[in-house]
Amino acid sequence: MAARLRVLIPEARLQARVREMGQEISRDYPEGPLYLVGILKGSFVFLADLVRSISTDVRIDFIGISSYGIGKSSSGEVRVTKDLDISVEGRDVLVVEDIVDSGITLTYLTHLLAQRKPKSIRIATMLDKPERRQRAVEVAYTGFEIPDEFVVGYGLDHAEDYRQLRSVCVLEN
Ligand code: IMP
Ligand code: MG
Repeated sequence: MAARLRVLIPEARLQARVREMGQEISRDYPEGPLYLVGILKGSFVFLADLVRSISTDVRIDFIGISSYGIGKSSSGEVRVTKDLDISVEGRDVLVVEDIVDSGITLTYLTHLLAQRKPKSIRIATMLDKPERRQRAVEVAYTGFEIPDEFVVGYGLDHAEDYRQLRSVCVLEN
């Protein structure tokens, strides 16, 4: 593969920010359990780090949403590829996402989960590309705002490559 990688957010900054986010979430939800819903697959690294910085009791589940295929831009079509295993009715839900881009995925998902009558629902995302927004999404916890560049690493992929990188990197052609 001829692509080049440029580090955008190094590992140490990611780790420090995730720790802060975990502390903030712990303060906001002193009473557990907090139901963390990770969006597969990209959120798995962020969720694994975040959960270890949260002192409130948590439950963890995952939902699979597909909107991207193997390209670099959204197809605009969203579907559930794996549903939750647990019920979120009457629960405090925190959706954990790797990156908010157009906002299409999270708009779809928050509507879907709201139908299941959670007590509350908020969103935590590691990265946000605000310039790319097509649908307004209310994000309660954001790690970093980044420019409109395609990034990989820390769970994020391009055609399933690069998820294991410790830093967030820009993929340059
Ligand atoms: P949205 O529905 O356009 O907000 O897309 C969100 C999803 O697109 C994220 O969960 C990622 O899986 C994917 N995505 C968006 N931007 C990037 C990127 O820069 N690198 C890798 N995946 C991305
Ligand atoms: Mg995703």
